[in-house]
Amino acid sequence: MIDIHCHILPGVDDGARTELDSLAMAKAAVEQGIHTVVATPHHKNGRYENERSKVQKHLTFLRALLKKENIPLTVFGGHELRINGDVFEDMDKGEIYSVNDSKYVLIEFPSSTVPHYAKQMLFDIQVAGLTPVIVHPERNKELLDEPMKLYNFVRNGALTQVTAASVLGKFGKHAQQFSHQLIESNLTHFIASDAHNTTTRGFCLQEAYQAVKEMYGLDTYYMLMENSHLLIDNMNVNRFEPLIPKRKKFLGLF
Ligand SMILES: [Fe+2]
Repeated sequence: MIDIHCHILPGVDDGARTELDSLAMAKAAVEQGIHTVVATPHHKNGRYENERSKVQKHLTFLRALLKKENIPLTVFGGHELRINGDVFEDMDKGEIYSVNDSKYVLIEFPSSTVPHYAKQMLFDIQVAGLTPVIVHPERNKELLDEPMKLYNFVRNGALTQVTAASVLGKFGKHAQQFSHQLIESNLTHFIASDAHNTTTRGFCLQEAYQAVKEMYGLDTYYMLMENSHLLIDNMNVNRFEPLIPKRKKFLGLF
């Protein structure tokens, strides 16, 4: 398995604090069957700034550490970029760290709102040659209340990534219900861990994929798995006609 979103670099954000934390996370990932992760530290979220050179420096350090400890985990770099007014200036300066330097960039909204300029910015990012991947939309209150906003973003070319733990209900019933609604409506393209540690915010990727396989069948399971491969290889990902998300009573299958 490939995990396109996690906070495994030591000491750069609210993920792994120390190299021991990073090693524990790496071991937990490998035990899950994950062979490749993309380290995506928070960037410009109001609390953390991790400029590209800093991420690369920590990446080199972590890769050497994993090699020394014989942990078979490949780590690529990227940003979890909070949508902000500097995006285009940073793009011009080569400061945006897309996923493994592909055309895909992870974009985070504030936790409860969608900025008024988001629609235009998501469009302009694509005009500039990058494809935005909106991370954990299922945990955003405004999108939960108004799923048509996300539908329109996807219709206009954005991709989305749901959190493995949300699929399993670890972020509550609302986020779980919305995650499944997004899978059913072709409104999400990736599952990733967004792991921050090995306890409260672990990987859960294997369990989430297993749940998807049981609930939606092999086609959906393989499509989502394959998309993470395609993304880090900078290829076009599978995407299907988005459907208007319908509110429906959750069956309580978990
Ligand atoms: Fe994250």
